[in-house]
Amino acid sequence: MKSNFLNLKKNFSIPKGTIYLCGNSLGPPLKSMGNEVKKFVDEEWAKELVKGWNSKGWFEQSKKIGNQIAKIVGADKETIIVGDTLSTQVFQALTCALKLNQNRRYVLTDNGNFPADIYIAEGLLKLLGDKHELKIVKPEDIIEHINDEVAVIMLTEADYRTGRIYDMKNITQLAHSSGALVIWDLAHTAGVVPIKLSETKADFAVGCTYKYLNGGPGSPAFIYIAPNHINKVEPALFGWHGHKNPFEFNLNYLPSSGIEKMKIGSPSIISFASLKHALDIWDNIDMNELRLKSIELSELFISEIDKLSIDLNLVSPRDPYFRGNQVSYSLENGYAFMQALIQENLIGDFRSPNLIRFGFSPLYLDEKDIINAVAIIGKVSRNSLWRKFSNQSRKIVT
Ligand SMILES: Cc1ncc(COP(=O)(O)O)c(C=O)c1O
Repeated sequence: MKSNFLNLKKNFSIPKGTIYLCGNSLGPPLKSMGNEVKKFVDEEWAKELVKGWNSKGWFEQSKKIGNQIAKIVGADKETIIVGDTLSTQVFQALTCALKLNQNRRYVLTDNGNFPADIYIAEGLLKLLGDKHELKIVKPEDIIEHINDEVAVIMLTEADYRTGRIYDMKNITQLAHSSGALVIWDLAHTAGVVPIKLSETKADFAVGCTYKYLNGGPGSPAFIYIAPNHINKVEPALFGWHGHKNPFEFNLNYLPSSGIEKMKIGSPSIISFASLKHALDIWDNIDMNELRLKSIELSELFISEIDKLSIDLNLVSPRDPYFRGNQVSYSLENGYAFMQALIQENLIGDFRSPNLIRFGFSPLYLDEKDIINAVAIIGKVSRNSLWRKFSNQSRKIVT
């Protein structure tokens, strides 16, 4: 199917004059989102009240929306459930994986993994009585640490700092050949990098829906479990929504048979309404085309920045094949620099200690935006506009 990204851009709501290069943190809403949420409130919640769980199929939405996401990340139907936060899903996936491989010592991850995942792992291992140990190595050293003592390899496909992406297929194969299981966090790739979960034979995957999937701030996360594991795994959280017969209210927990056992409690149906609407756009998107377009945009950005000859050091891989959808630079006074860009209506973000990050989604960006963005970066640098922010204390969210 042919994707026409120029046509999609007009469907997104971004303030006039703003260039939004921050979809790696939070995607923008579709213009129709307000109406869609209102429609849900008026026509489902207000009209149906509690009957909506049946009449509007709310109870089944975790799986239905999971199936929409499955298409985007190359997974089979009925292998993904949506709900809860990404941190919770990391906890669920890691617990399941460790139970499958409980006689092995290590959970292997890298120091570019998002700290949330590492914190969850630390807490879980403590809860399990320190039977397992977390081994954190440099991303480039992961492969040499895969051995028969590793129970689970837990990695984020794209590094949140640099955008560097792993070769999922290769790492998964290496892991399997030494008997380890792999959990992939797709937060920074779902919806923008073609992913083939089934073909890759990934064991578990998790991801958020508020970045490139544009579901809205804090929209629910997803968990994938490979069909060959689903019958063997037991969720960490015995959720009543994941019970085989939740409305029989038995006092004994009995898990549902399929991926539905990963459901926990009542999901946010209002968030599902916005997420479902945001995902509908993917019906007409070819992920390979999207990837090519995002590479075109990020390549243009890097080459135009190079022409400025300013003090920005590219920390993302120069080869787009090894780069996700994000380009990062390090610089002194990075926080102040980003604040100055934001004041000039170019929105990216900052990650400690010295990184400024820019994300490129072809759904709402085109070449003109990139050229304008680089012009703003040049202006802020040439005129030292960042200086006026250099003594300001940082906001909570950077
Ligand atoms: C890779 C990755 N994992 C986990 C998280 C934590 O997600 P949440 O705050 O939705 O639980 C994030 C948040 O940005 C993330 O980028």
